[in-house]
Amino acid sequence: MHGPILKENLSYYINKYDIWSKYEVESEGVYIACASIHGNTFKACEKLKEILEEKGASKVVLADLSREDFAEAVEDSFRYGKIIFASSTYNMEMFTPMRNLLMNLKEKNYQNRKVGIIENGTWAPNSAKCMKEILSTMKNIEIVEPVVTIRSALKETDMEKLNELVEAILN
Ligand SMILES: Cc1cc2nc3c(=O)[nH]c(=O)nc-3n(C[C@H](O)[C@H](O)[C@H](O)COP(=O)(O)O)c2cc1C
Repeated sequence: MHGPILKENLSYYINKYDIWSKYEVESEGVYIACASIHGNTFKACEKLKEILEEKGASKVVLADLSREDFAEAVEDSFRYGKIIFASSTYNMEMFTPMRNLLMNLKEKNYQNRKVGIIENGTWAPNSAKCMKEILSTMKNIEIVEPVVTIRSALKETDMEKLNELVEAILN
């Protein structure tokens, strides 16, 4: 009717349901959800992952939302307490896989997370504003500063802001 009937190890499953129902963090770490059209935002996220690990993040999971399983993306958004949402600008919006993820999380009443935002755009970056619009309707979502804006590809001059974002999300 609603899934398999569980007969063993019930306390394990009940504990999981308890965590999920309270929107609590399941595992320590940082999840980077990235929606990149041509790959430059993803490359910036690989660099971000490196810095997070250097600065002591216990676990960092980076997902390319255009290629990886959508259910995994929803799962990891719930699993971790610290999330970075990174998206290219696409027709003055966020790129579609990011919008799909955020709308899905909103429908699930997503809450209680610390999040960072990275946007990329060449002539008029606008995905951060769009991501913020959805995130700000959710309960107890702390958006850390700075929001990082990349223009086309990550540059040396972007590194300061990227480092500041890492400090803010980890502390
Ligand atoms: C269909 C399409 C629409 C785009 N719309 C915008 C836009 O509205 N504003 C902007 O600044 N860049 C826009 N871009 C450019 C991308 O955001 C930019 O190339 C960005 O660097 C892509 O990052 P990526 O390599 O991670 O995909 C668009 C690109 C494409 C292909």
